[in-house]
Amino acid sequence: MLNQEQLGFFKENGYLIVPGLLDTELCGKVSDMMWSSLPTSSSIKKSEISSHVGPFLQEDISEDSIHYRSGYRWLNRALGSSSEVIDLIYSDAVLSIAQQLLGGQLRQIVREGKPMGSEGPVWPGGPTDPATGTQAARGVYYTLPYGDKPREPDQCHTDGHPFQLGIVGLIDDSPADGGAFKVWPKSHKTLYPTFHLRYDQPRIPYYDHLPSFKGILHTQAYRDEISRLNEEVTPVECWGGAGDAVFWHHRTAHMAGHNYTSVTRQAVLADFWTEDLDKFRAKPASGDMWQDWAACIQESTGEYSEEFALAQRLAGTRTKRET
Ligand SMILES: [Fe+2]
Repeated sequence: MLNQEQLGFFKENGYLIVPGLLDTELCGKVSDMMWSSLPTSSSIKKSEISSHVGPFLQEDISEDSIHYRSGYRWLNRALGSSSEVIDLIYSDAVLSIAQQLLGGQLRQIVREGKPMGSEGPVWPGGPTDPATGTQAARGVYYTLPYGDKPREPDQCHTDGHPFQLGIVGLIDDSPADGGAFKVWPKSHKTLYPTFHLRYDQPRIPYYDHLPSFKGILHTQAYRDEISRLNEEVTPVECWGGAGDAVFWHHRTAHMAGHNYTSVTRQAVLADFWTEDLDKFRAKPASGDMWQDWAACIQESTGEYSEEFALAQRLAGTRTKRET
């Protein structure tokens, strides 16, 4: 269970790193399953570190939504429904934190159920919606080392599908600058009121004969705030060791980090919400943004020590204008 300082930090910053939360033995097992899921013909071999550098070669690319490999991203969503991943990311320790934060009745996941991506992308060549057909975790997500790929700027986004709380757990050590999950601290508070809906957003349907306008409809205020975050706020990189995990609020701006190390970033991703999400999702995003969460977070004063902020890598997270 989280203490008052952890609750306060999460409330204020929209994320919370919990070191050593996941069973490291299971982390190793899931990592082995991931590496074993590569076709035997793949040029990437677990034992040959130099072969891990991306991008995937043409013959190793897979556009399959359930087991995607392209560029530097390797996303095995089939594993998200496996018993091993479920035992790892829906452990009692993880669930008790999710329950503490959200209150209510957590949605039930399905063991060996349908994985994310089983219904394909939302439109031809489009993204895969985590809310469609996903009966457990999102999956095991790797980011290959970038090798000599030129550095590129960080660009944040928010996720479009309805949920309330996310988790990214490292299943192997991920050093700084190594592609770990990045969050824009406090962005959940500034982005929340720019949405029409509390946990959802209006969509534009895709039509084959009208392909240029599709996806999610954002407000101008949202687009302005995303630009401001990219311009002014330094993100926090949630690097760490195997078993470390970060919880993040649904509206927290984030990105999959760029991997400038020689080590593949190995993580497992999952979402949490309560059985009331359908009731909550289309309500207006106004008033207390914690109104659907547990009393302990509603009542938190949002206080934490400077030392705690340092441990959460918030040190030096002044706005770019201040630096
Ligand atoms: Fe995302």
